[in-house]
Amino acid sequence: MKFGFLLAFTATMRLWSILEYGDQMKAMSQLESVQDSFKWITVYLINAHHSANVIYIQVGSPKADHSCWDRPEDMTGPRPLTQVNTSTPGTEVLLSRVNFFRPKDVSNSKILQKYRKSAEAIMCGLLPESSTATSSRTNNGLIWVSEWNALQLPVASSFLAVLYSEYMLTSRTTKLSCDGDAFMPLDLWKFTISQADYILGNNPMDMSYLVGYGDKYPEFVHHRGAPIPADATTGCKGLESDEPNPNVATGALVGGPFFNDTYLDFRNKSMQGEPSTYNSALIVGLLSGLIWLPRHQWLGLSHKEKKAYQWTKILR
Ligand SMILES: *[C@@H]1O[C@H](CO)[C@@H](O)[C@H](O)[C@H]1NC(C)=O
Ligand SMILES: *[C@@H]1O[C@H](CO)[C@@H](O)[C@H](O)[C@H]1NC(C)=O
Ligand SMILES: *[C@@H]1O[C@H](CO)[C@@H](O)[C@H](O)[C@H]1NC(C)=O
Repeated sequence: MKFGFLLAFTATMRLWSILEYGDQMKAMSQLESVQDSFKWITVYLINAHHSANVIYIQVGSPKADHSCWDRPEDMTGPRPLTQVNTSTPGTEVLLSRVNFFRPKDVSNSKILQKYRKSAEAIMCGLLPESSTATSSRTNNGLIWVSEWNALQLPVASSFLAVLYSEYMLTSRTTKLSCDGDAFMPLDLWKFTISQADYILGNNPMDMSYLVGYGDKYPEFVHHRGAPIPADATTGCKGLESDEPNPNVATGALVGGPFFNDTYLDFRNKSMQGEPSTYNSALIVGLLSGLIWLPRHQWLGLSHKEKKAYQWTKILR
């Protein structure tokens, strides 16, 4: 399946991460490959924008696609296209247009003030010590809202938290006030690191949900390119193979654990085991945000705390 809106989100995240954290990516010699993947998506989207007012937003039909689980290279079934055009613009497209028509009597600064308030409310919801902390987290502290692709929200919120901490630093804002309690950029970092740590293996399953990272990670990822060796002919039965994936989908972030912090590594558990481009884009942004550069001295971390954060050797 190819989903245009999800890929557009992936591209947006990727570009946003490059704009915010390009120097971190460069310090790790990763900038070029991140730029390459961004280019790959934009080329796809440009091609999908077939003519004026027509863009293809989906390739394949979910039902037909899943009824025969063969290698992507071997697929011969129909690949129906879905387009949006002037007669069927698509709700999402419509909504993004509606946003353009802002009430005329609201000044820009009022709008900015409103955005700032909602950003602060979100940050206060994420910080576990805040009195307005969300209760949507597992016993082990992972932000958890939905069983389907549970990790999307903690990764996205952590990315926003680390970014917000940077904005606080660059605007010399020392405190975030949550219903009377004051928090520092460092608190947002700590939250972000708690989520990244969980995802990379500090969890009850002792498992990294980022495929290919660490000693233990999902081996039965719900990914069509992964379970079937290049020379095998499984017909349509690739989903049912009992063998771990021979092709490791390195860098794929799976859907993630249940609310009870457990994970079932079955290929047919798509809610838990399905990776996606938009998950991977989010975690690249998040981990890039955590790369230690000299400006982070401003966070006021002690040497000891800094050492404690060197969990992936990413932070320097
Ligand atoms: C516009 O898009 C809809 C939905 O994909 C499709 O059914 C319709 O045929 C398209 N219109 C034209 C003129 O191609
Ligand atoms: C955890 O939750 C899932 C989904 O609700 C359930 O299937 C599983 O049995 C639970 N595991 C434990 C150990 O409670
Ligand atoms: C899902 O996969 C597991 C492990 O291979 C298997 O035991 C189970 O029967 C499968 N469930 C369905 C609904 O096919």
